[in-house]
Amino acid sequence: PLGRDLAGRHVVVSAGGTREALDPVRFLGNRSSGIQGYALARTAVARGARVTLVSANVGLPDPAGATVVRVESAEQMRSAVLEAAGNADAVVMAAAVADFRPAEYRDAKIKKVAGAGPEPIHLVKNPDILAELGARPHPGQVVVGFAAETHDVLANGREKLARKGADLLVVNQVGEDLTFGRPDNAAVVLAAEGDPVEVPRGPKEDLADVVWDLVVARLKPISG
Ligand code: C5P
Repeated sequence: PLGRDLAGRHVVVSAGGTREALDPVRFLGNRSSGIQGYALARTAVARGARVTLVSANVGLPDPAGATVVRVESAEQMRSAVLEAAGNADAVVMAAAVADFRPAEYRDAKIKKVAGAGPEPIHLVKNPDILAELGARPHPGQVVVGFAAETHDVLANGREKLARKGADLLVVNQVGEDLTFGRPDNAAVVLAAEGDPVEVPRGPKEDLADVVWDLVVARLKPISG
């Protein structure tokens, strides 16, 4: 029923979770599985898009027909996403990007020292990729973010949608295994212009198709 309504479009999807290295063996990471981002990539291919999937630490098979760019850290994800976004009609940031990274990277494995207590880990802020795209370097591009919230889901989502300048924000309630690593998801999609859309619990593909429906409705007609 959906047809190839993304034919002639280039879309960028980020998926997975970044890892912020402390030393050659350790990192700060998160619980994102990449399932939702990969579902977005697969459904976009099915709807005719050219898809660039920027994938951070995901153990899933490559979606057929998508170009997969592998990254590890938030800074690598930023370079890959911004490069691919240069000629993209839409960017969907489904990845869990670390807000902070260790202030210093140790080239050699950090050792425990007998008698000494644990050393504090100092953090610095990562660039906010979604907010950079929300600042509209590419006019007409549809920018979509995800937000995982544990409380005050709608109020936090609205504030985040405005702060990041996105067109759409998919808000999940997380905690108690409601989202991470599961094949299904429930969400509310908030729009900068338009009513919120509630998506009942179902396969992550179904949520992906709702996101693409809302993206398609916001795309400028292909000229020429
Ligand atoms: O601020 P918060 O991390 O909750 O925002 C989540 C949204 O912002 C997701 O779409 C995520 O991909 C994006 N994000 C980003 N760069 C960051 C942090 C989050 O693009 N440094």
